[in-house]
Amino acid sequence: MRFPTNPLASRLGKALLALAIGIGVAAGVYAHGDMVPQAVDTKSLPQLGEKWLPENPYTPEAPAHKEALRIGSSAYNQNCARCHGLEAISGGISPDLRLFDKDCSSMADAGKKQACYKEMEEYFVATVRRGRVRDGRVYMPPFEGTLSQEAVWAIKSYIDTRRVP
Ligand code: HEC
Repeated sequence: MRFPTNPLASRLGKALLALAIGIGVAAGVYAHGDMVPQAVDTKSLPQLGEKWLPENPYTPEAPAHKEALRIGSSAYNQNCARCHGLEAISGGISPDLRLFDKDCSSMADAGKKQACYKEMEEYFVATVRRGRVRDGRVYMPPFEGTLSQEAVWAIKSYIDTRRVP
């Protein structure tokens, strides 16, 4: 087969090749999760100590809630948005975190709903600390040692504000 000699066709071919490489590189970044996790300054939040709490202390009723949201949204943008999307709106590559505890939100019984949210908070913290690695592939990097529990709960507080009904 002969390659096109038409300069326009060949230029178009090169442009398409460059585009394909660009997409490949972007996909590779997502697939390998080879990002540098960003430490987060949480000194302005009530400090929680070494032991991880079983549920979010920065609830909407807590005085620190507003500050947790400020820190959480910036920490989310620095560490999570590149995979989970800006403002937690996923582009489809990683789970949409606005829907993370959707099954709890629809529960009619208030007690059961709270228990469900709490269970999901433990699952959230465990996932963020360990990341997601399967068959040697890093789908999500572990954040243990990079993000303090103050930072992780602040991020969770922010994500809670992004819930969709
Ligand atoms: C390199 C991309 C990447 C980064 C960065 C990343 N994640 Fe993930 N995350 C994923 C992928 C992909 C999955 C789904 C993995 C799987 O299929 O097991 C996931 C899963 C999750 C889950 C579980 C969702 C569920 O419904 O089971 C939570 C919670 C989560 N990520 C939160 C975070 C938070 C918070 C951050 C930032 C601190 C973060 N992720 C950073 C890619 C990423």
